[in-house]
Amino acid sequence: MLNTNTLILENIEIASQVYKMTLDIDLREYKGEFLELSVKGFSLRRPISICDKGSKTVIIYKTIGNGTLEMSKLKKGDYINILGPLGNEFPIVEGNEALLIGGGVGIPPLYELAKKLIANKKKVTILMGFNTKADVFYENEFKELGAKAYVSTMDGSYGFKGTAIDLFNSLNLSRDFCYACGPKLLLLAIEREFSDGYISFESRMACGFGICNACQINTINGPRKICKDGPVFKIGEIIYE
Ligand code: FES
Repeated sequence: MLNTNTLILENIEIASQVYKMTLDIDLREYKGEFLELSVKGFSLRRPISICDKGSKTVIIYKTIGNGTLEMSKLKKGDYINILGPLGNEFPIVEGNEALLIGGGVGIPPLYELAKKLIANKKKVTILMGFNTKADVFYENEFKELGAKAYVSTMDGSYGFKGTAIDLFNSLNLSRDFCYACGPKLLLLAIEREFSDGYISFESRMACGFGICNACQINTINGPRKICKDGPVFKIGEIIYE
């Protein structure tokens, strides 16, 4: 786990209130799905999923509070302190095909997963759900990787009209297994539709590595910490409250 100041190479808005930050750091040799970022003036770090681990690292985040709003003001050439990578990762399982389902800013960690699946010679299909056309991002990036990408919007302003689950139900895809990340409502629907697979559970966090108990949830195996035991859990493992 690193704790280091990192040069920002790019910090641009790619959809409504959604920013892509490229960091001048190579994290490929480090396991972990997210980073804790330190924002000036805020004591608590912000947990943000890693979208792309390459010779540079890409994170994508939405400005949902004052901390992320402050992050969005950082410019190329500024530095940001990162702690991580933290948490576990989606496992690569047997089989030739993989279905990925994501909602909004739950989609970024599925990009790193899609890269790994495609590197393992698997055919990847991703269903991406957004509220409206202005929220859509990374459709082309998934297609450029070689994935089949489908988009839905709640208001029908782009792609299929409805949720990512409505989109799934409109396609003739296997219900055997999926990987998913997104808001709780999407994950609950995934848990109903699929008996096997993995979800990445988003949560408020504080320390990010298992010390403060801020992220505890109940599972069929007892209490677990999302930051340390997750954020990736098996479908059927979490007890939703
Ligand atoms: Fe502190 Fe998970 S955020 S234990």
